[in-house]
Amino acid sequence: MERNVVIIPGDGIGPEITASVKKIFAEAEVPINWIEGFAGNEAFEKTGNPLPEEVIELIKEHKVALKAPLTTPVGKGFRSANVTLRQRLELYSNVRPALSLPGVKSPYTDVNLVTFRENTQGLYIGKERIIEPDSHIELVGVITRIACERIIHAAFEYARKHKLKKVTLGHKANILKESTGLFLKIGGEIAADYPDIKFEDMIIDNMAMQMVMHPQQFNVIVTTNLFGDIISDLASGLVGGLGVTPGANIGDEYAVFEAVHGSAPDIAGQNKANPTALLFSSLMMLRHLGMDDKHDLIRNAALKVLADPELRTGDLGGKGSTTSFTDAICREIAASK
Ligand code: NAI
Repeated sequence: MERNVVIIPGDGIGPEITASVKKIFAEAEVPINWIEGFAGNEAFEKTGNPLPEEVIELIKEHKVALKAPLTTPVGKGFRSANVTLRQRLELYSNVRPALSLPGVKSPYTDVNLVTFRENTQGLYIGKERIIEPDSHIELVGVITRIACERIIHAAFEYARKHKLKKVTLGHKANILKESTGLFLKIGGEIAADYPDIKFEDMIIDNMAMQMVMHPQQFNVIVTTNLFGDIISDLASGLVGGLGVTPGANIGDEYAVFEAVHGSAPDIAGQNKANPTALLFSSLMMLRHLGMDDKHDLIRNAALKVLADPELRTGDLGGKGSTTSFTDAICREIAASK
């Protein structure tokens, strides 16, 4: 039986990397029927809204989506469609694994951590108030008990399910005593329900340094929205960069899978983008859908191709293009069928 999944091609390199995933899924005969939805710049130009209601309704109907990056104008223009989507669908867990890949050049070969970033609150909600134009701005960060509890629970549940030893909570409760202080307090309360899992906390600036110096000490990291945004990019730099780091936005009812990276306008339309991050996000989606055999087939093929320096894309020091890399994975899948 085919499963309907919404696919959003997005902006910049989005259409190139979604085409790559579709081609690889077709080669692997994954029983997915893609339903196209539009968001981002293209949707904004056509409808005046970067996140049209139709695309939200499509995801509500089919429950699961694979989304390529959406451009958000810097310092002006419309509000991020990504942030709105996460809030509207209550996708409160942003799950970002960073795993060393055999043969891929990176500072370490033994990183295996996953960041759980609170996805709906904090300073990231973009509530800014102009007190005096060009001179005085105030911004509001929101933290509620319910939002802290659900993300911290999700992090502990993940650790338990994957038999991981430790959850580390990142905060800034020495300075932001009430807001991230509440996050830390609730972390301690929830940890008491998981005596089998070690719990520790770290001030976020120290955590950034520790991740660079000793990343092997981390299993699951849980933190607030803006901190999670930054340290998950840092984590991606430990394992080969944004081109290889996947992610998922998970709520109780819906799930939207997307790469950590953005729309990379500097390389858009040049057949240079590395589709691995979106492909690995789509593999997280296959696990979510219970299609483990297809997950394994595609992942094994992708790992073989990634290990060959000639075939990799330029961001990983290789000579491959988006399309030649995709074709190499398709050949591996065909050979192992
Ligand atoms: P970016 O992630 O798009 O690019 C940062 C650097 O990494 C660039 O040099 C880019 O070429 C490179 N890069 C990123 N993905 C790559 C890939 N798959 N293969 C090879 N190289 C890759 O970040 P930037 O430039 O800060 O943001 C560009 C736009 O993307 C902005 O409008 C931003 O708001 C948006 N964005 C959207 C996200 C989403 O839709 N979830 C997440 C992050 C940013």
